[in-house]
Amino acid sequence: MLLGRTDPSDYNLYPSQYPWAYDLYNQAVRNTWFPHEIALKEDLDDFAKMTDDEKHAVEYLLAFFNPAELIVNRSIALGVYPYLKSAECHLYLAKQMWEEANHCVAFEYVLQTFPLDREKVFALHTTVPSMIAKENYIMEAVRTMTEDELDITTDEGKKDFVRNLVKTNIVAEGIWFYSGFMIALSFRQRNQLRNLGSLINWVLRDESLHLKFGIQLILNTLEENPALVTPEFALEIQNLIVQGVTVEMDFNKELFPRGILGLNADYVNQYVQHMADRRLTELGMEKYYNVSNPAKWMSTATDVTELVNFFEQQNTAYENPSATDDEVAKQRKNTEL
Ligand SMILES: [Fe+2]
Ligand SMILES: [Fe+2]
Repeated sequence: MLLGRTDPSDYNLYPSQYPWAYDLYNQAVRNTWFPHEIALKEDLDDFAKMTDDEKHAVEYLLAFFNPAELIVNRSIALGVYPYLKSAECHLYLAKQMWEEANHCVAFEYVLQTFPLDREKVFALHTTVPSMIAKENYIMEAVRTMTEDELDITTDEGKKDFVRNLVKTNIVAEGIWFYSGFMIALSFRQRNQLRNLGSLINWVLRDESLHLKFGIQLILNTLEENPALVTPEFALEIQNLIVQGVTVEMDFNKELFPRGILGLNADYVNQYVQHMADRRLTELGMEKYYNVSNPAKWMSTATDVTELVNFFEQQNTAYENPSATDDEVAKQRKNTEL
């Protein structure tokens, strides 16, 4: 079983019950990267020429991303890792936690390099109403996992586990982050902030695996606990996702009070709704919004499978040199699932 209280037999990697988690761990290790491999100097010239509204958008993105990475780690450490029995899942989550720390350091690196008022940027997530709403949405679930009495052996405890994963993994990592990535990469589409774009690509590559892991975790949990699979709980999950979309749409209105070249809140919010439908589909549920993808140029970069394949072409330089050819071949095969 995936969920429950651990016993000594859970401290062994073999026999492996969840090979997909071990495969994702190996893939994540090969994706290892470091923020300072990217020089941001050229981007500074671009930034100097940007309009106030464009700078405002960059500032808001960084203000959200930086603490969000640490909040995801809190959710994993306190609300996911302790309730899992699987050693393979623990391995993967240990690597994911390092990656979230690395993302936080990457955004910190951007904040230190760009001419931004760091104190002002750091304060935004505690003063801007839409950012407070986003954090409250996540922290409500994390608190349930940690501060209240939670018995993972009960159906209600297992539902809380799924609720937290839906909020932090599906909504925050799988919808909010993707909308932020799309905005950041739209600058590169216009030949601006190209190095920041490369850094975002690497973050996105990690996040696509985080999402793959989270979806698999939810699906396996539901499969092993049929009592959870009811129309009421499905509706509750859909409502959590819709609620997450609503707070993101409010955030985007504050991020784009007037819109910038090629982008405005309506455009980004349609993308948010499109991504929410994708996540619902990946969870085996009906689409809710039924809107087209306004940012078709992102389609290769946001498709989990395509993304991994796409990056493999340029990823070779970052593969762990200790990986054998067999392991690499196996990893490639796994990404074709
Ligand atoms: Fe992250
Ligand atoms: Fe993540």
